[in-house]
Amino acid sequence: MYLEPEEEKILDGEYGEAKALALKAVVRVAEAAGAQRLVRIKHAHVSGISYKNIGDEGLEFLEGLARRGARVSVPATMNPGGFDTVLWPYMGVSRDFMEKQFRIIKALSDMGVRPTLTCTPYLYENIQFGDHVAWSESNAVLYANSVIGARTNRDGGPLALLEAISGRAPLAGLHLDSNRRPQLVIDFREASQIIREKSLYQVAGLLIGKLAGDKVPLVKGLGLTREDVRDVKLLLAAAGATGGMGLVLIDNVSPERYDSTGVEKVSIDPVLVKEVHEEYRDDLSDGVVVLGCPHLSLEEVLDVISFFSERGSAKRRVMLYTSRQVYDSIGGYVEKLRKKNVFVFADTCMVVSPLSGYAGEEVVTDSGKAAFYLKAQGYRVALKTRREALAYAVGEEE
Ligand code: F3S
Repeated sequence: MYLEPEEEKILDGEYGEAKALALKAVVRVAEAAGAQRLVRIKHAHVSGISYKNIGDEGLEFLEGLARRGARVSVPATMNPGGFDTVLWPYMGVSRDFMEKQFRIIKALSDMGVRPTLTCTPYLYENIQFGDHVAWSESNAVLYANSVIGARTNRDGGPLALLEAISGRAPLAGLHLDSNRRPQLVIDFREASQIIREKSLYQVAGLLIGKLAGDKVPLVKGLGLTREDVRDVKLLLAAAGATGGMGLVLIDNVSPERYDSTGVEKVSIDPVLVKEVHEEYRDDLSDGVVVLGCPHLSLEEVLDVISFFSERGSAKRRVMLYTSRQVYDSIGGYVEKLRKKNVFVFADTCMVVSPLSGYAGEEVVTDSGKAAFYLKAQGYRVALKTRREALAYAVGEEE
């Protein structure tokens, strides 16, 4: 594999032991992927930072790297952790969990990873079409590739961190034009009416992931545009939960040119959409409404604020998950919402925090991704649209 003189110097330890180790690991991954060379990255996003998911082994790995003096070479951000860093006392986390989660955040911060603790870096970071980045949260990877037209593989958290430290990624997979072509066309035209009328983009996403698996799908007939940020977020996150792909080309949304001549095609029957939705419609006695997978944007939080401004308190608790930036920017509304039984959390989410400890075992969500993972964790789940979920919360169901 070709290495630039600068990369040889890094491997020789001229920039320290930690950077050499990181680059050595990236080179090994690149060789396994058959890459001819590495590519310089502009940004990295590191996932897998919840103590709930990575445990003591992950914590030791991160502290070990930090001790050796590892520092990121490019701007880097963090995915959500296991709790809200301010409201954790209300989230039923044990002392041990709390201490270890803060140690994870500190180890990463010491290496220069900004504790943004959000899974929507695409809403805040300056990432442009054609930029090479190293991201490791599936919804963020899918958004970067599919909507922005940036280039990243669907890396694991440790690899994204090593790429951040070395400033390089293997020039392989979705960093290359040849792997960004559609391999399966999924035509939603026959089902578009039910999806659009009922706003079932998260169900469409679950279906896309199931059908495409690791292939790059080209999705047609959904009528989405780049302005439909909320629906595109929900669709991509759900597709990334049931599928392993890192790019979903969406007609009218994805900025890349593509040629689908001769590519296998499937048409989606409306019945199939209903069947997939049925998988996530458990009967609940008293569910808690959880919204914000992926994290809610400011606009989405303002929509919820406006919904409750015209109504009394929620009869069933509502939990909103967003970035610290959005949390801070809504100021006094946090308290007003709390008085209406609506709780806003930052830095974490319903999937990576110990949800049963503070919300119970039954959840209503509008997120296909959250429904998929929470069901796998044993929760009873009802997947609704955002409107339906809020109506459920205030007892206005039809
Ligand atoms: Fe984000 Fe948690 Fe969902 S990290 S995409 S809100 S599972």
